[in-house]
Formats: sequence, C-alpha cells, structure tokens
Amino acid sequence: MYKLIAFDAYGTLFDVYSMGVLAEQLFPGHGQPFAQMWRDRQIDYTRLVTMSDPNPEGSQYYLPFWELTIRSLRYVCKRLALDLTADKEKQLMDQYAKLTGFEDSVSVMSAIKQKGISTAILSNGSREMLKIVVQSNGLDPFLDKVITIEEIKLFKTTPQTYELLLKNFPVSKNQILFVSSNAWDALAAKWYGFDVFWVNRFGHPFEELGERPDYEGSTLTDVLKCI
Ligand code: LAC
Repeated sequence: MYKLIAFDAYGTLFDVYSMGVLAEQLFPGHGQPFAQMWRDRQIDYTRLVTMSDPNPEGSQYYLPFWELTIRSLRYVCKRLALDLTADKEKQLMDQYAKLTGFEDSVSVMSAIKQKGISTAILSNGSREMLKIVVQSNGLDPFLDKVITIEEIKLFKTTPQTYELLLKNFPVSKNQILFVSSNAWDALAAKWYGFDVFWVNRFGHPFEELGERPDYEGSTLTDVLKCI
C-alpha cells in the first residue's frame, strides 16, 4: 500500500493550457498554439539551465521557475512577432500565478487524506508561486507538504529532484505513488524508482523510451482506483 501520493503541479493539478484563452484575447488567432509553445519553451529553459551545470550544489545558471516562465513568454512573443506590452505581460503572469486547477483536484486530494495517506506536491515551481496557486485553488488543507526544487537549484528530471520526496517523508521508494500528466516527468520518476500514475488527459502516446507507467487514466479521479 502507498503511504505517500506525490503530485506534479503544473499541468497535473493546474491547467497550463488554460492560458490559451487569455492568450487568444490578447493575441487573436494564436491562443492554443501560443500556450503550447510557451509551455514547451519554459520546460526547455529548465533543462538548459540544469544540464549546462548539473552541479550537486545547484546550477550556476539557475533562475526561479517564475522567472523562466516570464523569460519563455517574452521569447515566444518575439518569435511570433507579437507585441508583448508591459500590461499584457502583467495580465498573463497574474493569471499564471492563480492558474485554474483541474476540477477534481480538491475532491481527489481530500479522498486520499481520508484514507490516511500522505499527500505532497513535488514541483519545479518556485516556493512563492506554488504557495499562491495552491491557496487560490483551495488545496492547502489537503496537502502535507509542498516541495519545490528551489532549495537544490536543479530542475526535473535530475534524480536529486525526485529524491526530495524521500528527504521530506519517512517512507521508502516503493511506498510512493508519483502522479504526473507530463509523460517525461512520469517516465523520469519511474526511472528513479517510484511507481507512477500518468494522467493522460489528451489520449497522447507515451514516450518512446523506457518503461510504461504503472497506471494510466484520463483524470485525477482515476488515481483513486489505485490506492
Ligand atoms: C512541475 C512542472 C513539471 O510542476 O510542471 O514540476
């Protein structure tokens, strides 16, 4: 039986692609592809700063995820020749700060707690941004810990990031179920040695690498079938 269910944050509990609606209002005709490109560039930047200096003391190129999110937004606007005024940037980042959670996130987290199982977030997000998004979605009463990679200044998918769960909870690897909608995150957590649930909301293929996740479903609610 699992003693800890650990969730990825962005994409898994909070809908990064919901940014496409505001992006469409600000940059008509670009909404959804814009949101996708922004997300991809944001993750590219986390990998770039980590791989270029994978120092156990932290990457010298590290910038908080919040900052990488702004930098990637600016890049995408330049690339698409869109005029990102200070006001538009503020509107987009204000919405990102309080990103919409998936509708079943609270009920799932609460059901897990009722079973006496610990809950956590393990995220690339910086501490302050995680605090705001968790609070604005009403998740804080159901989370034992919100763990950020900020303290190690290395982003996923370095093993040290997944190790943070073992450092924060008195449990062994096989007592943890890691939940992510990002296939690359699910795969890396599996490689690290966790059991993994992949939330595949869009019916995407899994990565053509490594092992399949232990479980797959199309909603967070499906996680409850595994515990
Ligand atoms: C996170 C990224 C993967 O929350 O979205 O860690």
